[in-house]
Amino acid sequence: MSHDQHFRVWRGDSDKGELVDYPVLVNEGEVVLDIIHRLQQTEAQDLAVRWNCKAGKCGSCSVEINGRPRLACMTRMSTFEEDEVITVTPLRTFPVIRDLVTDVSFNYTKAREIPSFAPPEGVEPGEYRMAQVDVERSQEFRKCIECYLCQNTCHVVRDHEENKENFAGPRYLMRIAELDMHPLDAADRKEAAQEEHGLGYCNITKCCTEVCPEHIKITDNALIPLKERVVDRKYDPLVWLGSKIGIG
Ligand code: SF4
Ligand code: F3S
Ligand code: FES
Repeated sequence: MSHDQHFRVWRGDSDKGELVDYPVLVNEGEVVLDIIHRLQQTEAQDLAVRWNCKAGKCGSCSVEINGRPRLACMTRMSTFEEDEVITVTPLRTFPVIRDLVTDVSFNYTKAREIPSFAPPEGVEPGEYRMAQVDVERSQEFRKCIECYLCQNTCHVVRDHEENKENFAGPRYLMRIAELDMHPLDAADRKEAAQEEHGLGYCNITKCCTEVCPEHIKITDNALIPLKERVVDRKYDPLVWLGSKIGIG
């Protein structure tokens, strides 16, 4: 079964833009990205949208649909009423390049600011041994497809451009947590998490977790444990002393 639906899509560039109305055909089984593609084939041939896999795995097609950050390729049209207006807008937290495409380089900058895995001294590659429980813990975090929906949603930066410099965002605080919990990582990440990457800005609202298409428990399994580890270090005098004299 097919029907016509009222789409409203943000069109514009970094200077100005507006919502434009389009009546568009919807077929059974389609997702929002199918409808964007139909608009590109018909009434809006120059409509810009970023996408790649159409399978929820590349993380490219992040937009806001009726104000909710979503993957366009994983949002089924059947979840809307047929007479509902569907409004599609670019991610709000990042600068617009054109139409639905935003400049997400903030995230690449934050990724580069986190030092990579630091292997322990005297252990050669191939000699690493880890408990299964430690492997499984980091595997949850490694499901991340870097869609940046969590980065876009977190209120710390969503309406506060001024916080961007000092806040890595949930995806990259999760990366720090993953490394800090890694039994073989030799770097000390706790102080940097707090002082350089803005862990203290996170007040555990869990909005990041709610929008994650991979259902990663970002707040419960990464951010709260990282906060606990940082607090342990800061307020436990024995741990603090140990770290000062090299036995921590
Ligand atoms: Fe996307 Fe989830 Fe990764 Fe955030 S943690 S970038 S929401 S997949
Ligand atoms: Fe932001 Fe997630 Fe913390 S939404 S405030 S990073 S719990
Ligand atoms: Fe790859 Fe949507 S197109 S996640």
